Amino acid sequence: MQQKIFIGLALTLIIVIFIPIYWAMEPARQEAAHQRQQAEAAERGAELYTSSCAVCHGSEGEGKIGPALQGSQLGQDALEKIIALGVPGTGMTAWSDEDGGPLKGHQIEDLVTFIKNWGSTLPPAPAPTPTPTLTDNVADGRQLFIDKGCASCHGQNAEGSDIAPALPGHNREDVIRQVRSPIGSMPRSGPEQISDAELEIIVDYIESLAPVTEHREPVAMEDALVVHHWMALYALESDNQAEAEHHVSHILELVTDPEHKAQMEKVIEHIQAGDLHDASHIIEEMLAGKAEPGLSLKNLHLQLALASLEANELEDAKHHLEHFVDLATGDEKARGEEAIDLLEQGNIHDAEHEVEELME
Ligand code: HEC
Ligand code: HEC
Repeated sequence: MQQKIFIGLALTLIIVIFIPIYWAMEPARQEAAHQRQQAEAAERGAELYTSSCAVCHGSEGEGKIGPALQGSQLGQDALEKIIALGVPGTGMTAWSDEDGGPLKGHQIEDLVTFIKNWGSTLPPAPAPTPTPTLTDNVADGRQLFIDKGCASCHGQNAEGSDIAPALPGHNREDVIRQVRSPIGSMPRSGPEQISDAELEIIVDYIESLAPVTEHREPVAMEDALVVHHWMALYALESDNQAEAEHHVSHILELVTDPEHKAQMEKVIEHIQAGDLHDASHIIEEMLAGKAEPGLSLKNLHLQLALASLEANELEDAKHHLEHFVDLATGDEKARGEEAIDLLEQGNIHDAEHEVEELME
């Protein structure tokens, strides 16, 4: 009897004292758990970012081929959508496995958590992996091929993708030359990013790949058509006539529409005559009008202006903004003019911001 009373008392004490304490502490505990989960998600996101996104958006999210992501003004939903679905006709491919990409929904959420918390108390993106010890060159080479970002453009097995060709069949010299001084739109990697020793291992991996017997056109025809228009435009912006001609010749192989074809033949003539400006204009019109009918000329000039701003090509950026202003009306026109003013005052950051807002 004594014992039962004692147990009853003890239980009452627990209920009266500990449960309120527990309830008082619960929100703090939940908050701490939430913070820990966020930090863990951001850490996983940071690793994914380094292996898949940094090549184009910069290791600090400062922007390279793709726009800066550190401090992005885009909201959670917009980020998730863009990462999942990509931006058609640009290097930004769809990353969601539901759209043929390599990432699962929760991985995209981790990436967004990382991007939204960039520079806060959450951990920064890890430094690129250090040189591995050389055990099995081919396996290490494949790992490096992925870690150094080659795979995000050329595919996980170097099989080629929408934006970059397949690599089997390339020899040592090709690979080294292309990495150290690339032709086309591939970004350069110097010894600071990939040491000579690491590059040798990547070469071993590429040389180990069985050559593909037939030339594979990795992309759906329309996508390839769009991509070659963009690449030709970028090549013309950097005054690379040979590269531009190369992409226009691909367009000529792909187009079926007779008017489009005739225009592209004109483009070749302009390029050969050194008249790059007229060549660009025809490509722009064909891109917006035919290859990518959903794209307006106005938006195309905004995209080109943004790309130029990001590459610090201010004259080109101004040029495209002027075209935008010519095409726009009302409020949009005024904001385009405002962006030009900002650019002329040397306020690149705000100009970029204005252009980004106009694109929405
Ligand atoms: C091959 C280059 C490339 C890779 C790799 C890449 N992106 Fe992009 N990304 C781009 C380009 C180019 C754009 C701009 C598209 C446009 O013109 O609107 C872009 C746009 C974006 C945007 C929209 C930014 C804005 O302000 O409009 C986000 C967000 C983004 N990328 C996130 C990612 C993430 C996350 C990854 C990795 C999973 C990634 N990207 C990998 C090239 C790339
Ligand atoms: C941002 C995307 C991107 C990344 C990252 C990238 N490449 Fe490329 N690479 C390209 C594109 C696009 C081309 C085609 C260039 C052209 O002709 O316009 C190319 C071409 C090549 C070629 C020549 C292939 C040919 O058929 O002409 C080699 C070799 C190559 N890349 C190797 C690499 C290696 C190795 C890495 C990693 C260190 C790498 N690339 C990273 C986009 C990329």
